[in-house]
Amino acid sequence: MSDKPTHALPSYLDAEHLGPWGIYLQQVDRVTPYLGPLARWVETLKRPKRALIVDVPIELDNGSIAHFEGYRVQHNTSRGPGKGGVRFHQDVTLSEVMALAAWMSVKNAAVNLPYGGAKGGIRVDPRVLSQSELERMTRRYTSEIGVIIGPSKDIPAPDVNTNAQTMAWMMDTYSMNEGATATGVVTGKPIALGGSLGRVEATGRGVFVTACEAARDRNVDVSTARVIVQGFGNVGGTAARLFHETGAKVIAVQDHTGTVYNPAGLDVHKLLSHVSQKGGVGGFSAGEVLDNAQFWELETEFLIPAALEGQINEANAGKVRAKIVVEGANGPTTPIADDILRENGVYVVPDVLANAGGVTVSYFEWVQDFSSFFWSEEEINNRLERLMREAYAAVSQMAKEHNVTLRTAAFIVACTRILQARQVRGLYP
Ligand SMILES: NC(=O)c1ccc[n+]([C@@H]2O[C@H](COP(=O)([O-])OP(=O)(O)OC[C@H]3O[C@@H](n4cnc5c(N)ncnc54)[C@H](O)[C@@H]3O)[C@@H](O)[C@H]2O)c1
Repeated sequence: MSDKPTHALPSYLDAEHLGPWGIYLQQVDRVTPYLGPLARWVETLKRPKRALIVDVPIELDNGSIAHFEGYRVQHNTSRGPGKGGVRFHQDVTLSEVMALAAWMSVKNAAVNLPYGGAKGGIRVDPRVLSQSELERMTRRYTSEIGVIIGPSKDIPAPDVNTNAQTMAWMMDTYSMNEGATATGVVTGKPIALGGSLGRVEATGRGVFVTACEAARDRNVDVSTARVIVQGFGNVGGTAARLFHETGAKVIAVQDHTGTVYNPAGLDVHKLLSHVSQKGGVGGFSAGEVLDNAQFWELETEFLIPAALEGQINEANAGKVRAKIVVEGANGPTTPIADDILRENGVYVVPDVLANAGGVTVSYFEWVQDFSSFFWSEEEINNRLERLMREAYAAVSQMAKEHNVTLRTAAFIVACTRILQARQVRGLYP
């Protein structure tokens, strides 16, 4: 598929190297024919509302000064304040942050959360910084983007290489600058600081809930199903455990240390404790070692990619023998692989729907912070399940109506909601 845009680009983008933003634009082009009269507003999706680039200078422990490139992009705020994570990674670019912000607009609208989409990042390898350097960098970055974030403006959260501690520093810095405690400025905070119960497991739980909904649509019995999972961290580990506890057989798990396989079903609880001790699935004795490439070819009811982007691609998509793919990771399937899976009758529950459980419980955290009244874990899990089931039903209904994939349907549902909001708000002035 060509990376060439079909419309005018802002001067700050290089048309020859659009990167992830180019993939997002292709997805918008695919959905435009289904938007009816709302297509008049589609350009609003093809440019971010606001993109802030900041210099983040800090004093290193050795006394020298280092400068880092920081971003915060608010893609769309038609439906509410911006919402999306902050990523610390050496490969972060403006194009990537723009695309991730846009996917957050789509995800939040697909699940019907009252948010727009945003994302942030610092171009840094955080592993080379000490803990105090990391704290200084996070605080200076928060201060620099402080002009555009806030509990009712844009609410950051953790993403790659950021965590609850990062959010605590961000909340504290923002609150110090404002002169008032502002717990609602970030989500994914420690429980001691207004974080929410159930947040850690929320994404994996959402993956499991949407998988069960997809199973009903495809006449698959989850309690006897086979499951293979790539990525056994927060998302993959939680989803695998929930499948296992329902009676499903998790027959293969792959992570950065290799692939373990047991056709009779792996003991997921034992595998989780092995991984927490050894750092990966490699060396797990109650399973065979499988070649990494063979993982994708296993016959199974569910395949859960929950690690990195681009894992199901032109090279392996044709060999996938899963009935249902549920995308725990962001962007695990390339657009070409998506077409191949569709031709082969593989049913794909897309990332913008399947992994929306995390941002959904972030939304619950924000609501709880506003009212300073905190819910029980059971209440949170019940509300999460209800929201995810409703979101799946709306997307699946749209897919049937237009005979399109769940991905295109999720984009139709989401872009329609965003553009309806844009239309009724109108343009200021
Ligand atoms: N955590 C969330 O709330 C959340 C929400 C939405 C989306 N996601 C997405 O889910 C994915 C996983 O996130 P996470 O929070 O579970 O991360 P994590 O760091 O807890 O786990 C990542 C897993 O991926 C594995 N992995 C890394 N490199 C690999 C490789 N080359 N081959 C196979 N496996 C590899 C790691 O071994 C680990 O098991 C990411 O794409 C993330 O953006 C996470």
